[in-house]
Amino acid sequence: MRVFHIVGARPNFMKLAPVHRALKRVPGIEQMVVHTGQHYDFNMSDVFFQELGIGAPEINLGVGSGSHAQQTAEIMTRFEPVVLEHKPDLVVVYGDVNSTVAAALVCSKLQVRVAHVEAGLRSFDRAMPEEINRLITDQLADILFTPSADGNENLEREGIPAERVHLVGNVMIDTVLQMLPSSEKHIPPGLPAKFALVTMHRPSNVDDPEWLSCLVKTLTDLSSEIDILFPVHPRTRERIHQLGLNGAGKIRWMDPASYLAFLALQKNATLVITDSGGIQEETTFLGVPCLTMRENTERPVTVTVGTNQLVGRDFARLKTEFRKILTGGAKKGARPPLWDGKAADRIAQVLASTM
Ligand code: UD1
Repeated sequence: MRVFHIVGARPNFMKLAPVHRALKRVPGIEQMVVHTGQHYDFNMSDVFFQELGIGAPEINLGVGSGSHAQQTAEIMTRFEPVVLEHKPDLVVVYGDVNSTVAAALVCSKLQVRVAHVEAGLRSFDRAMPEEINRLITDQLADILFTPSADGNENLEREGIPAERVHLVGNVMIDTVLQMLPSSEKHIPPGLPAKFALVTMHRPSNVDDPEWLSCLVKTLTDLSSEIDILFPVHPRTRERIHQLGLNGAGKIRWMDPASYLAFLALQKNATLVITDSGGIQEETTFLGVPCLTMRENTERPVTVTVGTNQLVGRDFARLKTEFRKILTGGAKKGARPPLWDGKAADRIAQVLASTM
């Protein structure tokens, strides 16, 4: 069986690694990794392949940036001939980025089976581009792997036949568990004993100049209470430069961190402030308090079970919860079921049974 893995953006790579590794152990499976090139900076892409031991992708479509329509269309146009040439039996797509939906569309029209890793997550917020990508990818996928039971409920409500859906757990956690021991060596020099770690890149938080200015001002205020480390996504960096905001306070602005460096930062952080999906999950697993600057989450178990709290678009609430954590009042959390490092093995078992 010839299996293609399609990845394109940073949050795909740590999901690909354990699945790729688990399928290597299944006899009769030949694998190829196709990188769409949605993310192309060294520290948004190559460094992850190096650290996660995936090896360079066999094919890179080199699509780069663009509007959503341009990027999605470009991926489809460049990916279709690759599928026609190599004739995969199954294409595995990951998460909710534009590369995910573009590849699923191409394959479903060519009648190539699609497996979706991280299926069923819903924020119920269609202003979020990722929500559109999730809905469409799950409608098109033939095999759907969910990380948590809420995913199964969402898919059932959307009419996806239960026999297509497999609750396997969270592949991101497979990677966290595998990489955690080696991450300690990647702690950046001069790391303060206590610090808050910030990441922010969603259009809803960084595209509106007024909102972004308020956000940076709030973080600047808070940086007088604890050091703030902020590895900056290219999208955010561009906006912050445009507004001339990066001289602010005691915030330590950093380049995007590698996988191992960021894992070490998360593990040692007093708290994390983010709008990322994956970081809500990783902090829950690590037991680190997380304040999410969003009104909703497609990862509700991180709130109901884990250490995550949604502070919405409310800076006063952010400050209150931040201070509560600094004074020892952090929410306690637990690890959700099946976040045990074996999700990719369960995926491999299901795929082997379809050969
Ligand atoms: C994408 C995903 C988002 C994910 C995020 C993680 C979609 C719709 N969004 O958002 O779900 O959480 O990746 O990072 O797929 N850029 C660079 N270098 C790069 C990549 C991007 O400079 O290697 C800049 C470009 O100016 C680009 C902008 O970042 O226009 C945004 O990149 P894009 O891939 O469109 O979306 P992300 O915001 O990264």
